[in-house]
Amino acid sequence: MKKNKNLKVSIVMGSQSDYKTMQLAEKTLKKIGVSFETKIVSAHRTPKRMYDYALKAEQNNIGVIIAGAGGSAHLPGMISALTSLPVLGVPIESKKLKGLDSLLSIAQMPKGIPVGTLAIGEDGAINAALLAASIIANQNPSIKQKLNNWRSSQTKLVKRNPK
Ligand code: RP5
Repeated sequence: MKKNKNLKVSIVMGSQSDYKTMQLAEKTLKKIGVSFETKIVSAHRTPKRMYDYALKAEQNNIGVIIAGAGGSAHLPGMISALTSLPVLGVPIESKKLKGLDSLLSIAQMPKGIPVGTLAIGEDGAINAALLAASIIANQNPSIKQKLNNWRSSQTKLVKRNPK
């Protein structure tokens, strides 16, 4: 396959209220130097927007989709049903069930349409960005280098002694 160094990550979320969590995915991608876009796309409130977005994602130079959703959290699975691009789901912490509903909904996709599921909330948003960067790095040696540098800095921050 020909390498495409212009692929970007697309971050989508079901609601403005998800941005508090999903902005951490943006911040992480920025630190590593991965290009991205961010949009609100709701599977049940803006189904046509979701459909158009997913069908055009590949031609819009998107390499990986990160989809954050809470509650019944059908957005990542619906997007994955419409495109063969890798879709990473971030379960948003919901008020009533603390995100367990979002986690199970995203993780329990029936066979045939996969969604890579991350942890609930902020850790999930950060790790989704790191995983998306790893996927993009397969096509882009400069991103691979930046990701490895970021990991080295993280390692250096861990002290040997707790005192
Ligand atoms: C989901 O419903 C969204 O992903 C969000 O996590 C949840 C609540 O949405 P709002 O009521 O805050 O708009 O679709």
